[in-house]
Amino acid sequence: MAYTVPKLKDFSPAALDKAAEKLLAALDKEAAEVKTESDWKIFRDRWLARKNGILTQVNGGWLKAAPRDAKREVGLRVNELKGRVETTVGLTVRKGEPARDIAKAKQWLGDEVAEGNRLDITLPGVRRALGAEHPVIKTMNEMVGVFRNLGYSVQEGPEIETDYYNFESLNFPPNHPARDMQDTLFIANQESKLLRERLLLRTHTSPVQIRTMEEMKPPIRIVIPGKVHRNDPPDASHSPMFHQIEGLAVDTNITFGDLKGTLDHAMKAFFGSSVKTSFRPSFFPFTEPSAEMMVSCFICGGSGRRGSEPCRPCKQTGWIEILGCGMVDPNVFEFVKENGYDSRKVSGFAFGMGPDRIALLKYGVDDLQLFFQNDVRFLRQFA
Ligand code: PHE
Repeated sequence: MAYTVPKLKDFSPAALDKAAEKLLAALDKEAAEVKTESDWKIFRDRWLARKNGILTQVNGGWLKAAPRDAKREVGLRVNELKGRVETTVGLTVRKGEPARDIAKAKQWLGDEVAEGNRLDITLPGVRRALGAEHPVIKTMNEMVGVFRNLGYSVQEGPEIETDYYNFESLNFPPNHPARDMQDTLFIANQESKLLRERLLLRTHTSPVQIRTMEEMKPPIRIVIPGKVHRNDPPDASHSPMFHQIEGLAVDTNITFGDLKGTLDHAMKAFFGSSVKTSFRPSFFPFTEPSAEMMVSCFICGGSGRRGSEPCRPCKQTGWIEILGCGMVDPNVFEFVKENGYDSRKVSGFAFGMGPDRIALLKYGVDDLQLFFQNDVRFLRQFA
């Protein structure tokens, strides 16, 4: 005899269990009898139809009829039944053909479970091994976090870049000797294009300065983490692919004092409040004046020695070079002046640092290649 939904009088947990058991047994029996697509439609409507389907009857006959103090308990069970019925209907197949609702079943259950004839919801789920952050990415995230706390937002840009963004708009004129220092990897067969349109692998994250200023009016405060490429053969301290974190702040009245204060704070937040910073003059085409910033060696505390041994990371100087920086050159603003960057009204500072080297020092790793060989035995140590 076909199953009918009983009207409940007893709402005790034991009685509810019994009623649920009967309903599920009927569900399984009917599911097993589905052979054709039209069988399946009838089966589906019998159980799920809004108007007078079995679930609707359960809702009315059990949940609505339940006395107030049993409502919660009944509600929980009805919800569970609802899930079981919907899943079974979704997964029930015509002989030899997947259920029409397989897409929905996958959505509910994930690909692994929604296969085959039936669902056994007592099977354990698929456990995926937890990964961990790579030490370089972890270092980048921490550094970016320091600047986020200062109100900086994060920008990204393409790794395949045009000559215009990588060089020209950063005040490297064509044939300027500063281009030589960058050991650029060019994309082949670009000679027929105008120089500024030729493609290359970006040698630094600085092109994202221009890209951002084209999009966002001042004031801006951004950090730009990313991969960069140079034609450097791999060794213990070089890699043709490495990472940079760029920073850029533009507003009215930004001074070199702001640059120093910001970077000094960032280094203390990152390495610990006892580190000191020191600036010495340098040159970059896109900043004027330019500087290199050193931090006091966080390995030896600036003494240059570790006990009776010389400190190797800082080469006994007590200082470690961390980044290049400077005030944005007015020639750079010229390229974006239409977007509000009038060098008579705004000024800014920029910096760029190498998180790979910072991670090497921080974790006491002596070979940069270890970061990129992806040997799990090495990487696991940082998890
Ligand atoms: N882009 C420079 C480099 O890769 C670093 C830098 C960034 C210097 C921003 C000054 C300002 O060497």
